[in-house]
Amino acid sequence: MSTQDDKDKATKQDRLIEHSYDGIQEYDNPMPRWWLLTFAGTIIFAVIYLFNVGPVGNGKGRIADYEDDMKAFAAAHPAPTGEVSGDKLLAMMKDEDALHEGEEAFQKFCASCHRMDGGGLIGPNLADNAWIHGGRITDIYATVVNGVLEKGMPAWGTMLKPEQVEQVVAYVASLQGSNPANPKPPQGTPVTP
Ligand code: HEC
Repeated sequence: MSTQDDKDKATKQDRLIEHSYDGIQEYDNPMPRWWLLTFAGTIIFAVIYLFNVGPVGNGKGRIADYEDDMKAFAAAHPAPTGEVSGDKLLAMMKDEDALHEGEEAFQKFCASCHRMDGGGLIGPNLADNAWIHGGRITDIYATVVNGVLEKGMPAWGTMLKPEQVEQVVAYVASLQGSNPANPKPPQGTPVTP
């Protein structure tokens, strides 16, 4: 046997743990120090992270953080409420850019049911003066925002941006008197402008 082997044997024997189970003995091989320190570090980090304090988070706590984020998002994306100033919508009807945006949105989202020219298909004619849900511009706005779900008119308030809803409503109102060819017969009550 070489001297190297003897030496290995000696040090291993030194670290043998006293006890023996059924004649089997164990070496005492502790985890290396760097491993233990990393392990302890992760536990400490987890505790700090849990409470979101000082060095890890901003110290406010995770729930407060989440609520802050939600508030910031809500402030940046106000949901249309069905309340809008009629004057604002009427002014939009004179704003070329707004009408143009509204027309694009109408062709994209509404024409499938109301036809490109608003003459009506699955949904009613929007170019005549008869309205099921009211013909004031604020009524139209409320119908578009809330939809008429049981009749198949989606609630656009949750799908379009608030200003998009306003633009498309201004556009719909501007269709009054445009007399599209082969319109769907009037439905609802005629409203004198
Ligand atoms: C999936 C089909 C569908 C789409 C898409 C759709 N609508 Fe409608 N819409 C309807 C139906 C159906 C009605 C009739 C509801 C009723 O009978 O009460 C309606 C009714 C309306 C009314 C009320 C008409 C009235 O006489 O009071 C307005 C205004 C309207 N839609 C605007 C829009 C706008 C604006 C869009 C696009 C952003 C749109 N709709 C997209 C199906 C649709």
